[in-house]
Amino acid sequence: MASKYQLQDNSFYIYGTDVPVNKLEIQDSEILHEIEKELLEEAYEIFFDELSNDTIFDENYFMDLHRRTFESLYDWAGKYRDFNMAKGDSRFCQGAFVKSSSKKIFDDLQHDNYLRDFETKSKEEFAKKLAYYQCEIIALHPFHELNGRITRMFFDMVVSFNGYKFIDYSHIKPAQYIEASIECVQFANCTKLEQIILHGLNK
Ligand SMILES: Nc1ncnc2c1ncn2[C@@H]1O[C@H](COP(=O)(O)OP(=O)(O)O)[C@@H](O)[C@H]1O
Ligand SMILES: [Mg+2]
Repeated sequence: MASKYQLQDNSFYIYGTDVPVNKLEIQDSEILHEIEKELLEEAYEIFFDELSNDTIFDENYFMDLHRRTFESLYDWAGKYRDFNMAKGDSRFCQGAFVKSSSKKIFDDLQHDNYLRDFETKSKEEFAKKLAYYQCEIIALHPFHELNGRITRMFFDMVVSFNGYKFIDYSHIKPAQYIEASIECVQFANCTKLEQIILHGLNK
């Protein structure tokens, strides 16, 4: 018998394609990617403009990034998955533990004051913390899709808050980001990601 999770998985894509079901009923994946790109660009502007001394980078903020960026396109925007997911040989956090694992990550982040006071500390220290938390969220992979983009946007807002430019990932190939992610998910090792962030972090 098909499980609830399998059914959810299957109904995610337009039948027989790898195009996610979407509110605009777009079936062409290139057009959909273009729209996702535009929505992300708009969201970067909106969330950047909204940054203030009161901004708290808590779990609600993170979920809101996903929801507000993509809710015009996807029903599941801003909602955590409760089914298991893998990419390649990497198995992300089990669906049943996404909520509790996320809470733990954001509780830890709260103890670090949501990384809100790194403006005057060393860049190396900041990159280490950013990589640690980014690694944790990569391994969590809490949404069905668009995790990479939303995770990077979250940390771009954190670094902006601290007076830095958005993290520049253009010095690496996409495959190197995946390699660093594999280290995070399979080996809980964030050293590769830390190097990437350190090189891309500038005032
Ligand atoms: N083989 C893998 N092992 C571990 N993590 C991976 C692997 N492939 C991709 N990832 C992680 O998943 C992210 C992509 O997730 P996804 O939900 O598709 O987001 P997006 O569509 O924004 O790229 C990547 O940015 C990377 O961090
Ligand atoms: Mg994707």
